[in-house]
Parts: sequence; structure tokens; C-alpha cells
Amino acid sequence: MSDDIYYYEPALGHGLPHDPFNAIVGPRPIGWVSTRAVDGTLNLAPYSFFNGFNYTPPIIGFSSVGHKDSLSNIQATGEFVWNLATFALAEPMNQSCAAVPPQVDEFQLAGLTPVASRKVAAPRVKESPVAFECKVTQIVQLQTAQQQPVDSWLVLGEVVAVHIAKALLKEGVYDTAAADPILRGGGPADYFRLGEKFLMRRPS
Ligand SMILES: Cc1cc2nc3c(=O)[nH]c(=O)nc-3n(C[C@H](O)[C@H](O)[C@H](O)COP(=O)(O)O)c2cc1C
Repeated sequence: MSDDIYYYEPALGHGLPHDPFNAIVGPRPIGWVSTRAVDGTLNLAPYSFFNGFNYTPPIIGFSSVGHKDSLSNIQATGEFVWNLATFALAEPMNQSCAAVPPQVDEFQLAGLTPVASRKVAAPRVKESPVAFECKVTQIVQLQTAQQQPVDSWLVLGEVVAVHIAKALLKEGVYDTAAADPILRGGGPADYFRLGEKFLMRRPS
């Protein structure tokens, strides 16, 4: 074992002031997920255990650590919308994570405007420049290496409709930097914005 390497086994604890896991697997894009409950109540919450997993069809997913309202709504309706969290929307995104009862509409709480979607009943966030309307494909309860169930669920959904603010399409090419997405790091409060872009092609 090297003196230069800090080693730990998560099951036995990390022994550090903060668990480094989230800071290492980061910065992460944010799955800002809107859903509609069966009774019509709107729900909006951020999930940074989020990413894209397939091109054709496009499939995105997020992980609900604990059985949260977004997951309950998605289990009941099979639908959700992903909204892009930008720097301009950082505060309302943060407000939308408040642990409030299911009957509270986080759109109202965060001062955001719900707009009707085209293919799903859940609305998108009008203020966000990009949204994906999704139909759920799989909900997988996570488990340990010993096959013990974990109180977390991976929600995967096919993107069936896409909304992009035309200002972000430069000669038809989506401009990631212009959207100014926010990314989640570790600790209680770390976020990142994009840094320098560089180009590298795959070996042919
Ligand atoms: C930036 C950010 C990222 C988050 N990522 C996750 C996540 O990946 N999984 C999770 O379960 N909760 C995550 N949370 C916490 C949820 O947003 C929070 O528990 C929320 O109240 C869930 O809302 P819901 O019960 O309406 O679905 C995150 C919060 C913030 C601010």
C-alpha cells in the first residue's frame, strides 16, 4: 500500500470530515424533474444522480434515494419531464428541493411557471430553456453486492419530445456553454459552471 494514497472501504466508513463520493463523481448534471400526481398536484425536484444512458431512443435516468414524491408520481403515471437547470435558475432549482408534503406544488414554491407538455401530462418549467418529455421505461430498485435491497430507485425514461430555446441553437448546433448549465459537486453546497472546452476525436 502506498503512503500517498488514502484508502478506505465504504462499508467501514470513510474516516474523512465529508464523504468524498459525491465530490469525486462530479460535477454532475442535474435532473430537474417535473411530475404530475394522479390528483393533478404538480411536483418539481432536482436529482443530481442523473444522466443520459442511450442515444436511440434517447433514455435518461435519475436515482431517488429514498421513496420520494417524484418516484411515487412516476410509478402512478409513467411520465415525467426533465428540465435543464441553468445558472439563472439556480435559486428556484434549490428552492424546489424543499422537503414538503406531496400536496405542495414546488412550481408555486419556487415561483416558476408550469407549461403544458405535448406528449405527457406532467408540465415543463417555462423558465428553463430545455426540456425533455419522458415516458418511464424501467424503475429498478438498487441492491448491494450481496443482493440486499437498498432504499433507492433508478428511474429510466425514454425521451419522447424535446423543447430547446432557439437561442441555444447556433446554426442548428446546440450550444452547451450558452445554456450555462449548473452542475452539482460534493459537500452541502458545491456547484460548478462550465470551464474551458477542448476537442479530442476518438482514435480511428
Ligand atoms: C442539486 C440537488 C441534487 C439532488 N439530488 C438528489 C438525488 O440524486 N437523489 C435524491 O433522492 N435526492 C436528491 N436531492 C434531494 C431532493 O431534491 C429532495 O429530497 C426533494 O425534496 C425530493 O422531492 P420530491 O419528494 O418532491 O420528489 C437533490 C437536491 C438538490 C438540491
